[in-house]
Amino acid sequence: MSLENKPVGRDAPPAHPPPTHLRVEGIQKRFGGVHALRSVDFEVARGEVMALVGDNGAGKSTLMKVLAGAYTADEGQFFLDGQPVTIGSPNDATDLGIQIVYQDLALCENLDVAANLSLGAELVKPGWGFLPHILQPLDELQMELKARKAIDRLEVRTLQSVRNKVGGLSGGQRQAIAIARAVGAESTVVMLDEPTAALGVAQTKQVLEVVKRLRETGHAVVYISHNMRDIFEVSDRICVLRHGGNVATYTTSETDPDKIVAAMTRGLDDGASRDDGANNAA
Ligand SMILES: Nc1ncnc2c1ncn2[C@@H]1O[C@H](COP(=O)(O)OP(=O)(O)O)[C@@H](O)[C@H]1O
Ligand SMILES: [Mg+2]
Repeated sequence: MSLENKPVGRDAPPAHPPPTHLRVEGIQKRFGGVHALRSVDFEVARGEVMALVGDNGAGKSTLMKVLAGAYTADEGQFFLDGQPVTIGSPNDATDLGIQIVYQDLALCENLDVAANLSLGAELVKPGWGFLPHILQPLDELQMELKARKAIDRLEVRTLQSVRNKVGGLSGGQRQAIAIARAVGAESTVVMLDEPTAALGVAQTKQVLEVVKRLRETGHAVVYISHNMRDIFEVSDRICVLRHGGNVATYTTSETDPDKIVAAMTRGLDDGASRDDGANNAA
């Protein structure tokens, strides 16, 4: 990036798009006879929300799982900040700072928020290292502080206490907790698969606020959704997949929901012109 001073304010020319953080090229994935991803290219920058859209079966969840290392791509290349990387397992993805929030949130209803946020990475009290890990006492206070910090960072305002059991929380709050858990790990890429699909209006709004906070805190956010209103409220760009292949990537401010729906359902052949904010059509 150039260090020269740039004019700022309303009349300033549009800033350069932020440099790509995570980029994949030519991703192929087959499940037996199903060709789920057909040489898909995809990218997301830090401080950007990239929406990933497409009809049912278009390959959105599969692409996300490939990026999270949950599925191994048959072919394709991965780059992080321009450097080639390998994503062959969930651990690879975690080590690279890539976190996924699944559709079913995988939270434990019977545990409180603090415990859920530390799941799999429980903190133990110092000084008990002579015991096997499983017998070491949990450091509840540190876990509570850590949870509080993760929640505060995302400005989840409606949550009264990190000691509340997850089973008693609203859908929106649960999403926020699942997102906070992903962010609590040292992540730079956070991927959300249909986070508002089961939520009402107020709770959706809450989750969208959390997504915006992720962008403000410099995360690269991948956001899968069917809801055009949510997508247009929260995304910077929109990547359209169809039948496992790229249609195009649109700049959200330069397109509209009708064009996106047309691209999802009919591709670029009619309805969605390449002049309307669309680029890198495959
Ligand atoms: N684990 C799997 N085994 C077999 N087929 C799968 C599996 N996961 C996804 N598919 C198939 O891959 C295609 C893309 O699915 P998916 O990525 O879930 O689509 P989307 O999330 O866009 O609705 C679909 O045809 C789906 O049936
Ligand atoms: Mg899906």
